[in-house]
Amino acid sequence: MRLRRVKDALEIVEASKYIVLNPEEYKGKFNTLFNNDNPIHVEIGMGKGDYVVGMAEKYPDINFIGIEKYESVMVRGVQKLEDTDYKNLKLLHMDALNICDVFDHEIDTIYLNFSDPWPKNKHAKRRLTSEVFLKLYDNIFKGEPHIVQKTDNILLFASSIESLSKYGYTIEKCSLDLANEDIENVETEYEKKFKAKGYKINYLDAVKYSKK
Ligand SMILES: C[S@@+](CC[C@H](N)C(=O)[O-])C[C@H]1O[C@@H](n2cnc3c(N)ncnc32)[C@H](O)[C@@H]1O
Repeated sequence: MRLRRVKDALEIVEASKYIVLNPEEYKGKFNTLFNNDNPIHVEIGMGKGDYVVGMAEKYPDINFIGIEKYESVMVRGVQKLEDTDYKNLKLLHMDALNICDVFDHEIDTIYLNFSDPWPKNKHAKRRLTSEVFLKLYDNIFKGEPHIVQKTDNILLFASSIESLSKYGYTIEKCSLDLANEDIENVETEYEKKFKAKGYKINYLDAVKYSKK
């Protein structure tokens, strides 16, 4: 189906049973939306959603929330979900800058897959691993903050390692070629495209341990 206008995309996205239209109302109690106390994992910048949907399918005892800023992208994922019934999946159409309006110390893991690299120094604060975002994430994690990142972009990857380390995260796993590691993986749309072109995928898994 060709979408005539962005407005069509917004209508389709908002009509999806997976979309939480009023996420602020669930702040601090997203577990009630899932009717269980299973861990909640969030993908920021889910794009068309292959990853977050694949993860929800693979790990039914974890609740997954996909966040995406643009309805024009999200609509493609929503359309693919029409005939599905995942009990452990919700989607939020919002900018991650507002994440603290929506969550309160209830998230276990954040996934950042092929995030926009913002290569210019003057835009560094917009990177989803900049200190600006790491401070926001502190307010939404339930326990020790846990971030998993995949990217083709080595500059973003280096910037993330620096920013996470400065902010107190320990890089538990790190790879410059995810395909050659023994790491459980669900591929994203961008990952599939980059792999097809022969690009190597960078991967990190970072935890901010509480001080003892
Ligand atoms: C390059 S795409 C990657 C999509 C998907 N994660 C993948 O790996 O195939 C990055 C996505 O992040 C979204 N995004 C970027 N900044 C965002 C923000 N602040 N809040 C929510 N989504 C954001 C973009 O709209 C875009 O769809």
